[in-house]
Amino acid sequence: MREGHIAVVGTGYVGLTTGAALASLGHRVVCADADPHKVARLRRAEVDILEPGLPGLVREGLDSGLLEFGQDTPAAVTGAGVVFLCLPTPMGAGGAADLAAVEAVAAEIRAVLPAGCAVVNKSTVPVGTSERVAALIGRPDVHVVSNPEFLREGHAVHDFLHPDRVVVGAADREAGRRVAELYAPLGAPLVLTDPASAELTKYAANFFLAMKLSFANNLAAVCERFGADIGDVTTGLGHDPRVGAAFLQPGPGWGGSCLPKDTHALLSICEQAGVEFPLLRATIETNVEHQRQLVDRVAAGCAGPDGTLRGVRLALLGLAFKAGTSDLRDSPALAIARALRARGAELYAYDPALCETRPDLSDLLTLTDDPAEAVTGAAACLVLTEWPEFRELDWTRLAGLLDGRLVHDFRNILDPARLEAAGLSWQGIGRTAALTT
Ligand code: UGA
Repeated sequence: MREGHIAVVGTGYVGLTTGAALASLGHRVVCADADPHKVARLRRAEVDILEPGLPGLVREGLDSGLLEFGQDTPAAVTGAGVVFLCLPTPMGAGGAADLAAVEAVAAEIRAVLPAGCAVVNKSTVPVGTSERVAALIGRPDVHVVSNPEFLREGHAVHDFLHPDRVVVGAADREAGRRVAELYAPLGAPLVLTDPASAELTKYAANFFLAMKLSFANNLAAVCERFGADIGDVTTGLGHDPRVGAAFLQPGPGWGGSCLPKDTHALLSICEQAGVEFPLLRATIETNVEHQRQLVDRVAAGCAGPDGTLRGVRLALLGLAFKAGTSDLRDSPALAIARALRARGAELYAYDPALCETRPDLSDLLTLTDDPAEAVTGAAACLVLTEWPEFRELDWTRLAGLLDGRLVHDFRNILDPARLEAAGLSWQGIGRTAALTT
């Protein structure tokens, strides 16, 4: 009945964006998710994740009749011409990607997939997964295609509809072209290749981004040592198109649901294959070391007479792994919070995205709905997520509530002059207040 429709299995930010965006391009799309509550909510266009533009796109898709949601995966793929697998591939044992969800769905749908259908892996998976999925499906009349996603959380709809490139890897060129054709209206450069190259492109992309960030964070430490300004240095660097200006903003370390997981997974497959990749290991280790140094810096500024942070109250502004999301997965802010807590600090935190979602973090910190409450009585304040609203806070009022004077701006987003006018001492990353005025 739905001959030739597109099925999307998994409605996380990748699956839901893929389904809703393909519907907006005029395709008939059925999205399947095993969670009945989620399906019920999506049928009412209620989107649980903070992703600009996505609720509107889902609403449009439902209204046009092109987008459907269901809980029954085999039913959703029955009659489909293309099936996108958008399933979680979390970090498993030893850093390797855990493919249990992908394998379970492959086994679940193998018997009902129509002949000639393309099963497209969008999840980030180790090199060789397309072959593994093809073997699991065990159907010579079904083609497995790799089509990695390059969607940033918080920009997923924009990134899907305005891709820098589309990468499609397929053993069967015709199946690859059929998948690539779906993106044709978007006018992006196409890389049509084999599955292993497509799978590796995704890992390489996230590794390269992580490497840039570890570089920037290390460079910031060098700037501090020599009295240079990281903003000016990276601007000077970034004008060279071979370097590029993006992704050079120093911070409290890189995190999120993708970069840490994917760098570890790439390291794991390289180790298994006996391939040395020292730069990859150094990229990961640099991130850990960078965070350790930031924690030492905070401790140096406000440790008690016993040298620990026992009983020292600290205010944390921002917990999400980056601005624009409420996602806490592998958040650098939480990694720093845990390290400070381990040294005995008492943490009070505010994050604008968590006022509604209110995750239970009670074993680590006290979550407040108000930055003033978070800073009251604190020995120091740490800015950990680059929410623009932090810049606009009434720092004169907050200065009156803070016990100590030090504000660690680990995102370099505050205006040092305003803080200093409020009687606070601003400390950024890779720059001094004098250099920013
Ligand atoms: C990342 C990639 O950017 C996407 O291209 C990719 O598709 C996605 O993973 C994925 O694999 O699905 P995302 O996880 O949304 O996207 O996060 P990013 O925007 O890349 O940020 C990662 C971390 O780097 C965050 O902690 C962020 O705060 C930090 N960051 C980023 C910096 O510290 N400085 C910067 O200049 C940029």
